[in-house]
Amino acid sequence: MSENATVTRQAPPPNLYAARVEQVRHYTDKLFAFTCERPAAFRFRSGEFVMIGLMNGERPLLRAYSIASPAWDDRLSFYSINVPDGPLTSRLQHIRPSDEILVGRKPTGTLVLDALTPGKRLFLLSTGTGVAPFASLIREPETYERYDQVIVTHTCRTDAELAYSREIVADTLADPLVGEEARAKLRLVTSLTREAHPLEGRITMLVKNGDLFASLGAPPFDPAQDRIMICGSAPMLQDLKAIALEAGFVEGSNHEPGTFVIERAFAGS
Ligand code: A2P
Repeated sequence: MSENATVTRQAPPPNLYAARVEQVRHYTDKLFAFTCERPAAFRFRSGEFVMIGLMNGERPLLRAYSIASPAWDDRLSFYSINVPDGPLTSRLQHIRPSDEILVGRKPTGTLVLDALTPGKRLFLLSTGTGVAPFASLIREPETYERYDQVIVTHTCRTDAELAYSREIVADTLADPLVGEEARAKLRLVTSLTREAHPLEGRITMLVKNGDLFASLGAPPFDPAQDRIMICGSAPMLQDLKAIALEAGFVEGSNHEPGTFVIERAFAGS
């Protein structure tokens, strides 16, 4: 265990697994990703989130995090922002390989393939850490079985914040399991709102003014054949949901699949 580890190796509470951290990677002073071993009995669907955390004295301190690895992977990956004074993330940012984190036993979520009716193009629209569940879905073989094209969009403030999405897409294209299909079907579109970039502006604006579709050389949203997943901050979800509804998309859920689904980006506080 690392020197400043905030983790004690005691038996986890009954509703939680303890999982050993294997890898930690810092992208900026605020953004980091980590991988832990996958508890043998832990099952989830690609795109879901789960509670994770650390012991805080006698009690677990937990937050919801999207699982950024696919359901077939024998490791669990997460992508996190360090919220200043955030009770969990300010400690989590110091984790190191061989520390232990707590993982909930009940993953859940709506950014799953089964919450969408069949379609041809899948748009995965994200801002900030909202790209995490899409890191899982683009490495899921079923995504490519279901769709002809998979378009991930990632909008951040600065170029440094795009490092993670660039990396996960590069890794996916080189992946032995899904690489070949991803090379044929997967596209990453990045945009920045506070630095110069080939595509500048919020994703909401790029959809409305058509720049997103122009950059892809592809037609605009068509609810007859497009399916959309959205993950970002609450205002981003609200604005993109309004755009999707106006374009004729219908919100789906686990109980009733639709043509788009949304989920707040976790990985904070
Ligand atoms: P902006 O720089 O114009 O606020 P944040 O870190 O605040 O979550 O933002 C991540 C990205 O999401 C930023 O590029 C930000 O743009 C953008 N963003 C913030 N609010 C919205 C919104 N309501 N709709 C679309 N994009 C948004």
